[in-house]
Amino acid sequence: MSTERTLVLVKPDGVQRGLTGEIVGRLERTGLQIIGMKLMMISEDLASRHYAEHTEKPFYRGLVSFITSSPVVALALEGPSAISTIRKVMGVTDPADAAPGSIRGDLGIDMGRNLIHGSANSEDAAREVTLFFDDSELISYDRATQPWIVE
Ligand code: RTP
Ligand code: MG
Repeated sequence: MSTERTLVLVKPDGVQRGLTGEIVGRLERTGLQIIGMKLMMISEDLASRHYAEHTEKPFYRGLVSFITSSPVVALALEGPSAISTIRKVMGVTDPADAAPGSIRGDLGIDMGRNLIHGSANSEDAAREVTLFFDDSELISYDRATQPWIVE
């Protein structure tokens, strides 16, 4: 298991519904370490760079309009297999198909309001963490519990 960094967004629906604490709590309980976290508005420019892979998709305009409509909470998380661990905790893209116990499966019902974004792979993660956080906003720190979380 290699140490990875991943980008998570609590999307506007999560913040508006007062689910930020619930979602961040679930992310924290995995044992991964929060190394960056902020409430922010996503600009049109940032949205278009973040969702560049979806430019040609029919849902693109709605997606950009939604993600820029209200604040998000951006997090950078670090730890062993952070990218796949977060994707598992999130559940699959459509909440209707997401497993019980996952964030989308427990808290969502609609594809366009699926509460959370998590980087899909290591290339996306590296790009997205840099897109949302300056180096000065990412903090490396020791946790007293680390030996109880990672052998
Ligand atoms: P995300 O990027 O948000 O973590 O989600 P994902 O990898 O599971 O899904 P992705 O395929 O990257 O799609 C990005 C977001 O676009 C919305 N979407 N709508 N109406 C549709 O067919 C459709 N497909 C995707 C979802 O909100 C999805 O999270
Ligand atoms: Mg994606």
